[in-house]
Amino acid sequence: MDAAYEEAKTIVAQMQPEEKVRLTMGILALPLVPGAEIPEEALMSAGFVPGVPRLGIPALTETDGPLGVAYALGLRGDYATAMPAGIAMGATFNRDLAFAQGHAIGAEARAKGFNVLLAGGANLARDPRNGRTFEYISEDPLLTGQLIGWNIAGVQSNEIVSTIKHFALNGQETGRKFVDVQISDTAARESDLLAFQIGIEIGQPGSVMCAYNRVNGEQGCASDYLLNKVLKQDWGYRGWVMSDWGAVPGLYAAWNGLDQQSGSQLDPDTFFDDELLAAAEADSDHMKRLDDMNARVITGLIATGVLENPVATGGDIDWDANAAVARKAAEQGIVLLRNEGNALPLAANAESILVVGGYADSGVLSGGGSSQTHPEGGPAVSRPLSDSGAFSGFISEQYQRGAPLDAIRARKPEGSVRFRPGRYSSDAAALAAQSDVVIVFATQWMTEGVDVSDLSLPDGQDAAIARIAAANPNTIVVLETGGPVDMPWLDDVAAVIEAWYPGQGGAEAIAGVLFGEVNPSGRLPITFPRNVAQLPREDIPGMLEYDPDFAGNPPSPDSKLFTDYNIEGSDLGYRWNARQQQEALFPFGFGLSYTSFASSDLETDGASASFTLRNTGERAGATVGQVYLVSRDGEARQRLVGFERVELEPGAETTVNVEIDPRLLADWNGDGWTIAEGVYSFALGSDAETLGQSVDVQLPERSWTD
Ligand code: BGC
Repeated sequence: MDAAYEEAKTIVAQMQPEEKVRLTMGILALPLVPGAEIPEEALMSAGFVPGVPRLGIPALTETDGPLGVAYALGLRGDYATAMPAGIAMGATFNRDLAFAQGHAIGAEARAKGFNVLLAGGANLARDPRNGRTFEYISEDPLLTGQLIGWNIAGVQSNEIVSTIKHFALNGQETGRKFVDVQISDTAARESDLLAFQIGIEIGQPGSVMCAYNRVNGEQGCASDYLLNKVLKQDWGYRGWVMSDWGAVPGLYAAWNGLDQQSGSQLDPDTFFDDELLAAAEADSDHMKRLDDMNARVITGLIATGVLENPVATGGDIDWDANAAVARKAAEQGIVLLRNEGNALPLAANAESILVVGGYADSGVLSGGGSSQTHPEGGPAVSRPLSDSGAFSGFISEQYQRGAPLDAIRARKPEGSVRFRPGRYSSDAAALAAQSDVVIVFATQWMTEGVDVSDLSLPDGQDAAIARIAAANPNTIVVLETGGPVDMPWLDDVAAVIEAWYPGQGGAEAIAGVLFGEVNPSGRLPITFPRNVAQLPREDIPGMLEYDPDFAGNPPSPDSKLFTDYNIEGSDLGYRWNARQQQEALFPFGFGLSYTSFASSDLETDGASASFTLRNTGERAGATVGQVYLVSRDGEARQRLVGFERVELEPGAETTVNVEIDPRLLADWNGDGWTIAEGVYSFALGSDAETLGQSVDVQLPERSWTD
């Protein structure tokens, strides 16, 4: 990006003063709140920033998002390929697929005339009750950084900009604009910031979107620490920082590293136009900053190819190719959690199947908020949380088209598959007793703007499953959830599959797994706790104090809300469990298959590792080889340091090589990284808790800066 920045500076040198505050301020291009007029050329989407046509700089046309070109409440009247949730992508552990998914979404964005995709959700899952857990990849910095990096690279392979967001530590929705995250520099660098760092290195996003929340007292989009120090100084980032929508507290954000105000109608004022220009004209340092802000936006456009190859509306979309990616991603993201007595794949002689619940006759669940996407036809079912407020349309439980019931029926003789909505369980339980097998679709809807208060399945679904399983133990539960849920009925059901929000290919993918056409290969990218008492915090801070509010504004200017991430520090998820010596319900990295695998022959010098994976079962399948650091000088310290998804025929084996990122072994020392001298133990794992052969390596002390 350095060369692009130099070129960008020559363009900025030709700008008239008033032209310098065009790229710095954008609007929400949807008619939801009063304020700026929405120009014709804006495309009814999340954002629009006017260009400087005289200098060949196009307007920025911005759309969400990470899971497909966003539906934007249907206001554009178009549709897009609906990909699985981010967490489902995490479960694939598949870098190539992350790229392919990004490429497909980016291609649709370009064809629709968008040159900026608000994608790249890279926040770590610090709390599974976070309403946006479904949008993000995982709880692990390496997995998140690598997958999001390749995903961004895929988006940008279309010569458009992708963001990476929300920088940083945006870990809960409750009070999202004022929650003040407490975390040490060391802990942040070794966890959440590392995920972003790896993602930026791989993906080279044209833009970084800063976050709503505060970090150690500073507003994320006005954080000198995050924006100037970490991102621009330490990591040498040359693209631009855009704000999240309504996240700018004042003009001073510009001096602290923010380059562009987005969705300005949602902020207290339009700081980044006339006010910014006046400040720059009065002070040469501010003028230098303004020039840098412009140069950075233009750098992002040059480096990704937008400037050379401008977008236009009306491009062709290869719907079939993109649908194939969506289906493959859904298939590879599904995690088989339980399969007692090989209940799955379904026996060919199962003559009567009862399907219950989850709107399985209509579609598959998706997550709410700005990332909402729909394939042709729009929502199959829409169930708003409420009808109040400008953003209520975004907080609506929506099912994407493609009904699992149809996909199941297509695979069985007519009349053999019954369906009950499951709203009441008496009919479902009575029919369950008369059926060979029961497939219950259980849903946990999550949305941007609202956290869940616990991990139960809402609307009495846990009780319904228990009642159905009591009537017929050959019950299979298909979970469509945004993240981990409790399973009080687990021991009483035969099988459980976690399908997440599987997108438009979900129905076929789920049926494929149930009937054995697809051998499940997903692995959990997030720890499923036994109960919320295992989490670092008993509750989501503020959950009881503040009423749900999509905007997340402080009820009064002096409202205070703190979340203490120093409790777990950089040890979140499986790292926390290792530190607390507690066992998960299902650990990170866990997932069953219809075949079996063995791993062996781990060799490592601490810089790279190799090992062998073998399919020891009777059918082809895929597994994810995982290498963990487990201890340093005998002290427990768990880190995923390498992973690889491989497909193997029965009896086949392969040797896998992984590079070990030294930052995963190191401590942040305040200015850089230090690997302390000592004995580092590495182990192969089929998940974070099921560890096999280990190897000890003596490493010398080493320090470096990024
Ligand atoms: C979300 C962002 C999104 C933006 C624009 C915000 O509410 O936090 O992820 O890109 O809106 O829709």
